[in-house]
Amino acid sequence: MDIDALTDLARRRRSIRKFKPDPIPDGDIRKILEVARWSMSGANAQPWEFIVVKDPDTRAAIFDLYRTNRARVEAIEMTRVNELRHAQVGIFKEGGHAFKDAPVIVVLLGDPRTLQATFLIGQILSGERKTFHSNLAIATYLIQLAASALGIGAQWVSIGQTWEGPLKTLLGVPEEYMIPQVIPLGYYDYKPAPPYRRKMDEMLHFDKYDRSKYRSDEEVINFIAGLHKRSAAAYHVGSAARPKAL
Ligand SMILES: Cc1cc2nc3c(=O)[nH]c(=O)nc-3n(C[C@H](O)[C@H](O)[C@H](O)COP(=O)(O)O)c2cc1C
Repeated sequence: MDIDALTDLARRRRSIRKFKPDPIPDGDIRKILEVARWSMSGANAQPWEFIVVKDPDTRAAIFDLYRTNRARVEAIEMTRVNELRHAQVGIFKEGGHAFKDAPVIVVLLGDPRTLQATFLIGQILSGERKTFHSNLAIATYLIQLAASALGIGAQWVSIGQTWEGPLKTLLGVPEEYMIPQVIPLGYYDYKPAPPYRRKMDEMLHFDKYDRSKYRSDEEVINFIAGLHKRSAAAYHVGSAARPKAL
């Protein structure tokens, strides 16, 4: 693969939030997870395991947990000023889909015991489970890229602490493991718009930090407020009151 093809793949990959129910060939699911198996990880600890959920009842139960948890998340989010509320707020009230119809949900498991592969001082000093979570994020991103290369859509659904326990119980996951995120997969049911990215010049420094690029607290807050407006359409796919992409 040349660099242009890689850049193109990185640009084309989108978070998909409305899926067709059509099944994905098992061979494609294996190919996607094979890419993730080759992820890099701190000390090569490879903390990941995958549960491929295709059973309709189990998928529905996962979605139900997500939806129930979302109500709690949104109740807290509504205490923020309007401009800073996460753009995903209100998706279900407005008929959004998220991953309701995705034919496959890959549940990513992480085994925190593998963190012991890294330096002891790293485990003690560098913040709780930093390497562990980085490892799992990289594997998740590779799943997303691999799916995109096959024309399959993927979502990244973060698992809140409030529903990780019930999810583990549902899937019979041993106590030691964590579930940082699940990755619904399926064919796109719409054409996602290209999302906003900051310009290269704003984030690129040579040799040392370029103070002219420093953003004040106010600028960061304004950036976030603008970001939420720009990304609302991407979250509210299929909802009756779908905001227009900016
Ligand atoms: C760490 C992380 C957590 C995320 N959590 C969620 C999530 O819980 N729900 C969701 O719909 N998207 C989630 N996303 C996807 C982002 O919203 C998405 O990547 C971003 O808006 C840019 O859009 P794009 O993926 O289409 O380029 C997450 C992405 C990352 C990297």
